[in-house]
Amino acid sequence: MSEIKIRKAVFEDVASMQKIASGNQVAVENLSQYANQGFTIWPRSAEAYKASIERSPHVLVAEWNNEVIGHLLAYTIPVVKSLNKEMGCEDDVILSLSEMYGDDTVFVDQITISRSHQREGIGQLLDDYLCKSTPHNGKWVTDIVHNPVKNIASVKFFEKLGFTEKCEIVQDEWTLGVYERSL
Ligand SMILES: CC(C)(COP(=O)(O)OP(=O)(O)OC[C@H]1O[C@@H](n2cnc3c(N)ncnc32)[C@H](O)[C@@H]1OP(=O)(O)O)[C@@H](O)C(=O)NCCC(=O)NCCS
Repeated sequence: MSEIKIRKAVFEDVASMQKIASGNQVAVENLSQYANQGFTIWPRSAEAYKASIERSPHVLVAEWNNEVIGHLLAYTIPVVKSLNKEMGCEDDVILSLSEMYGDDTVFVDQITISRSHQREGIGQLLDDYLCKSTPHNGKWVTDIVHNPVKNIASVKFFEKLGFTEKCEIVQDEWTLGVYERSL
């Protein structure tokens, strides 16, 4: 088996990133069936992935056999705020996080691994790379769906990485748990 390579994402990865995120998208009425595997609720447009790659050095992909099989989007709080503004999707959750956390906080946004490669340690490899490539002593934060269905896979994964739950934020019909860590 060839090795899994973690690297920064480039524009050519965008179609694969969209495919992986869509592959983990689940209709709201079926979410409970996927709580233990996890689900991606907001796949992004190609334009949004490109903007993330352009603006943040913390957008990573996992590659195996020359195929992208997972990715992670992370940014500092000011970068995610300006990206959302540019995309015309200013988000209450990000606005709340920007009030709670300093500008050097790293927000881990989307992490999604193709279904056939989950539980192979790829999420952990992406975080290892992120930690090594981010000279950072501040806080890390992420949000995880708690309602209508708790994303149990994601909670367990982020707890394994050292994140702990701080509070919940309600946005429309979604309740999101806010998880943070300090390294
Ligand atoms: C959640 C997700 C990102 C984890 O990535 P992964 O590559 O499968 O996780 P890893 O193999 O690196 O797991 C590292 C550790 O996290 C924990 N973990 C990961 N997935 C888990 C699951 N489904 N259930 C319980 N614990 C889990 C385990 O402690 C695991 O270590 P172990 O396998 O030695 O027990 C992946 O399952 C996924 O993409 N799910 C669908 C999309 C999603 O829910 N994304 C998160 C919200 S955006």
